[in-house]
Amino acid sequence: MIRFLFFIFVISTILFSCKKPGVIEEYNEQDWMAGGTQTVFEQGSGAYRQTFPTLSGELLATHGTGDAMFEATFVSAPAPKNSGLGPIYNAVSCATCHINDGRGMAPIDGGSSASLFLKLSSSGQDIHGAPNELPGFGVQLQTKAIFGTQAEGDLIVTYEYETGYFEDGTSYELRRPTFTINNPYTSMGSYLFSPRFSRPVFGLGLLEAIPEWAIIANEDNLDVNQDGISGKANYVWDIKNQKTSLGRFGWKAGVPSILQQVAAAYSQDIGMTNFLFPKETSFTQSQYDNLSDENELSDSLLYATAMYIRTLAVPARRNVQDPEVIKGKQLFNSASCIKCHTPKHTTGVNVAFADLSNQTIFPYTDMLLHDMGPNLTDNRPEYLAFESEWRTPPLWGIGLSVAVNNHSFFLHDGRARNLSEAILWHGGEAILARENYRKMSASDRAALLKFLNSL
Ligand code: HEC
Ligand code: HEC
Repeated sequence: MIRFLFFIFVISTILFSCKKPGVIEEYNEQDWMAGGTQTVFEQGSGAYRQTFPTLSGELLATHGTGDAMFEATFVSAPAPKNSGLGPIYNAVSCATCHINDGRGMAPIDGGSSASLFLKLSSSGQDIHGAPNELPGFGVQLQTKAIFGTQAEGDLIVTYEYETGYFEDGTSYELRRPTFTINNPYTSMGSYLFSPRFSRPVFGLGLLEAIPEWAIIANEDNLDVNQDGISGKANYVWDIKNQKTSLGRFGWKAGVPSILQQVAAAYSQDIGMTNFLFPKETSFTQSQYDNLSDENELSDSLLYATAMYIRTLAVPARRNVQDPEVIKGKQLFNSASCIKCHTPKHTTGVNVAFADLSNQTIFPYTDMLLHDMGPNLTDNRPEYLAFESEWRTPPLWGIGLSVAVNNHSFFLHDGRARNLSEAILWHGGEAILARENYRKMSASDRAALLKFLNSL
């Protein structure tokens, strides 16, 4: 049925576009089909959780198993089902932090939220270039623990509010977060930390399928073209393949693959050991329960969850023919947003996995790290990513954030309360792009935002 609707959509769009070649010019390259063949047309709260339309047979069944795993609530051992939570953890399920496969809740002033946690480390790097674990705390602050066990501490977020002005005199307000760890279970000593807000998980299989050479081709480490924008690849440790690989996932591109990201989430966020992370995160800590808990999660369920993530479809753009959206798109280009939020990529040819093969996609990211200036700096480097450097996040589907998650909190720590604030926090390599936006007339700003909302 979905395929049939898709077919009708494509046919009618072709017919429609034949009648209006002039308009098609403006959104050439079919960027409304954001995920290529794996584009879906759901616009409500389920927009991020649709299956690849081409998926069938065993892969579709595995996707279903992974879907159930993503929703499953884990409990402490021993239990007949979904056993192995903790002893320390951040949330009881993937879906707690990725609500409807999107973002989680952002913390309110003076509060906390499971979907925003702190990565921790002590200074220096291990032999693979990864941040050193913080003794007694590991690489993440686990703010929850199973009954009878102490969590590592509480995280509280407070905000300071600052007023700024667009060039036309209109004021805006930004809120700057401060992160405080209360009640640490033991002395923390000096530590480095990086706040991380959860992100949508759709379309990642397509991002994983972009050939490495195509991403590296856009690197400009020394800014040879002198446009003020460099772009640098992160190289990180791939545990399964025991080698250094291109980093693609996470806010600092610190993870090489969906499999490793998912395995780390089970291990760090939920406390489920698995073959990539066989030791409890509390292994050297007083919370460790000394249970033989090797692989609390089976390999097949880990792979199923990764397969589920890999095959989540991308929502189609909306209102692409609206003249204001077309104008906003031109402003997105002329304001240099496209220098990092690269619209188009093509996935590699993959005979073994045709659903991901040779797709023209429009994620609006270059998958590279950029210096975003002092305001967005954390104090924890991750492999090659400096404190001020972040991976350009994909913008596809961003206009459906409110429909999916009922809020519009953005950036790595959820500090931006809407798209405009997200742009106004841009600094460093993006300072010119930010200023281009700040200097726009009210109607141009509205058009740019309308374009973002069409993604
Ligand atoms: C406690 C909250 C929390 C839980 C539980 C959680 N995640 Fe996440 N997830 C995050 C945060 C925060 C990030 C960003 C991490 C970073 O930048 O390093 C993230 C990132 C991801 C990403 C990469 C997104 C991207 O664009 O790079 C994937 C995939 C993902 N999570 C899948 C999962 C799966 C699967 C589970 C369950 C096994 C899960 N997550 C459980 C909070 C959570
Ligand atoms: C130098 C590269 C660069 C340029 C130029 C740039 N961005 Fe970004 N953008 C980023 C990075 C990196 C982030 C993530 C920053 C963070 O979370 O701290 C980001 C985040 C965003 C977000 C929030 C996404 C999310 O999921 O939270 C939006 C929206 C956005 N940019 C829009 C724009 C617009 C519009 C422009 C042009 C006015 C622009 N960007 C120019 C690199 C860039």
